[in-house]
Amino acid sequence: MSDKELSVSEGVPERFENPGLPPHRHRMSDTDPAAATRAERQVVGLLLVSILAAIGGVAGYFLFPAGVSLWQLRLGNTALGLGLGLGMLGIGLAAIHWAKALMNDTEQVELRHEIASDATGRAGAVEKLQAGIADANVARRPLLKGALAGAVALAPLPFILPLVGNLTPDWDITRFGYTAWRNRPAGATGRRLAIDPTNEPIRASDVTIGSAFHVIPHDLGEMPGEDHFLNEKAKSVVLLVRMHPDEMRVSEGREDWSYHGIVAYSKVCTHVGCPVALYEQNTKHLLCPCHQSTFDLTDEARVIFGPAKRALPQLPISVDEEGYLIATSDFHEPVGPSYWERLK
Ligand code: FES
Repeated sequence: MSDKELSVSEGVPERFENPGLPPHRHRMSDTDPAAATRAERQVVGLLLVSILAAIGGVAGYFLFPAGVSLWQLRLGNTALGLGLGLGMLGIGLAAIHWAKALMNDTEQVELRHEIASDATGRAGAVEKLQAGIADANVARRPLLKGALAGAVALAPLPFILPLVGNLTPDWDITRFGYTAWRNRPAGATGRRLAIDPTNEPIRASDVTIGSAFHVIPHDLGEMPGEDHFLNEKAKSVVLLVRMHPDEMRVSEGREDWSYHGIVAYSKVCTHVGCPVALYEQNTKHLLCPCHQSTFDLTDEARVIFGPAKRALPQLPISVDEEGYLIATSDFHEPVGPSYWERLK
């Protein structure tokens, strides 16, 4: 069966005819100057929505700075998202309405027989482009032009501002020197260790040999003066494991930092700060998934492989009178990457 027979048998015409453009229907704004002015105002209104949304997003960024509390972070992100979304939406709707209601909708057709136009064709294209720009009447509508410039200039701000603002260097390196474990409740011998995210205190008897727990200070969100909740939580997180005491090497001065084989080490990698969370029960090795630094928990979290340059800081722990695990002090060295050493 030939191609022609095939196409005829399937009811497909052998060639499509160009149906041409439908007859032009005049819009109200083409014939009524009042309608054109009304449409222009609507476009300006949409651009104003975009401007106000962008300003609102920027205001939200400054009113609800990140790193203070979780709800502030959410409010700030919501304001930025709404500012960016409405800012772009306003510009998009204004552009559509402007094109549909105000721009000249006469079709400009250039018949082309070759892929590359000759010089005359190119000159004609430029001429038609310029005619199109003139048709848009931008020069005769200064209000529209100004509103468009304002909206286009301000709408990206909610996106750009956090990128630039959050890259601002913060050289307050003293914050590396302490964590929320230093903050013990009044009258207590130490801050209890709690499971994240349930905030449930953990007893020594809950930690069996081979188990591993992701732990933060108990009632961290309730601590007076802990206004930078997320920062404090990020710095304070520890991994709690239990080994046979005779498997562990304990150096002088650290004899009372563990409790019957239960040890707690900072989870913040000393390379560049990823969470060190892969515990290999048989070897007692702790692996950082980012660049494979490996720490030996039987040897005070010494680095045995990878780019990290120092051991994970150990949190001194004990138990209180009710059998709950407590931190008897803060870490004895800064947690996290060792940048602070270079900045001293
Ligand atoms: S951050 Fe842990 S190895 Fe790089």
